[in-house]
Amino acid sequence: MQINPGGRLDTKDVVGRDAEIARYWGVLERQGLVVSAERRIGKTHIVLKMRDECRSGYLPIYQDLEAVHSIAELIRSIYGAAGRSSGTPPDLKSRFAKWSGLLPSKIAGVDLPTVDSTWQALLADAFDRLIDIADNRIVLMLWDEFPLMLHNLQRREGPDAAMQILDHLRALRSERADRLRFLFTGSIGLHLVLRSLRKAGNTNAPVNDMLSLTVPPMVHRDTCDLAAALLRETSAVPAQISDLASRIADEVGGFPYHVHHVVDQLDQLRRPPDLDDVSAAVDRLIYDSSDPADLNYYVERLSSYYTDEERSLALIVLDTMAGLSSPTPLTELLNLCKHREPSLADEQLREVLTVLAEDHYVEARKGADGATYDFRWQLVKKWWKERRS
Ligand SMILES: Nc1ncnc2c1ncn2[C@@H]1O[C@H](COP(=O)(O)OP(=O)(O)O)[C@@H](O)[C@H]1O
Ligand SMILES: [Mg+2]
Repeated sequence: MQINPGGRLDTKDVVGRDAEIARYWGVLERQGLVVSAERRIGKTHIVLKMRDECRSGYLPIYQDLEAVHSIAELIRSIYGAAGRSSGTPPDLKSRFAKWSGLLPSKIAGVDLPTVDSTWQALLADAFDRLIDIADNRIVLMLWDEFPLMLHNLQRREGPDAAMQILDHLRALRSERADRLRFLFTGSIGLHLVLRSLRKAGNTNAPVNDMLSLTVPPMVHRDTCDLAAALLRETSAVPAQISDLASRIADEVGGFPYHVHHVVDQLDQLRRPPDLDDVSAAVDRLIYDSSDPADLNYYVERLSSYYTDEERSLALIVLDTMAGLSSPTPLTELLNLCKHREPSLADEQLREVLTVLAEDHYVEARKGADGATYDFRWQLVKKWWKERRS
């Protein structure tokens, strides 16, 4: 097992996630699935484990859509992924691989990336070919970072293009329900993209035939197992590994990426780590100016995906919340925010709090007198408090 924060792991090194995977297969038996959660919680590794240990009856095709900016690129990437899929017969593999290189200029000389009516036929054709090679299996499209693709598409080709593709995919899902299934993952919530499409005048509900789920933190037991497996790669004293592992799980919660980082810090010590070293390693993630765990990402993404007004509201809420030692009831939180910025209305704050919860910054929990709010991750909260507030 390799200490490898942010890298691609072998499927055998993907720890736990069995409950999530079983749940996702259960959903996919009947409908499509949108899985969203913050970046680096382990979505890609869950989906790759599903592909590598695929249930019988499916032909899984995995595509990372992060770099796809146009419908032409999407179609090309479907052919590319089909060419690489282990479920594709060898003779078709090379043909798919060739097509992926030729598109879009070869097919019908389509003037892309301009969206015209032809792409719909090309896309439907790509799925027809996949359904064909799948025999009696269901083609399962594992579309990683789908909302990011829509966001890119919207910027490159306009909101209408993004909406058209959503509508087209929805129609495909319904027409080919017995042969085609989609699992979308997203580090930016699909709701953020849909919201901006709605602002641009589109009012459909293009994914409400799919079930939306959030990836939960890894359960404590699995987080400890992961930490222990990684610690075995360091000079940790074997008899202390179990205590060290549970200390790591307590300090960072079930966020596997952060577990890899903490063990990486401990590995740098070049001597057997003790329990105090764990706290020091966590502190280094927060204070090191090189920001090894990329915690500033949580601030940066507000600039990318929120409007200016939403971003300043979100910062007021998060800066306020970072200074509070425990989950806070709504009214108290609203009052504290208004103390910072008296011109704010309750309704504005409520709305941004909903967005932040949908976007995994914030979590609502049941309190004695109604909902209380706090950061979803204590490590992020600590970073926010130390570095921003
Ligand atoms: N189940 C897991 N077991 C071990 N390490 C994991 C697991 N899930 C995630 N990781 C670690 O976290 C990093 C980020 O995971 P990734 O699947 O790329 O997240 P996401 O797709 O949500 O951004 C991986 O590179 C790996 O270091
Ligand atoms: Mg990913």
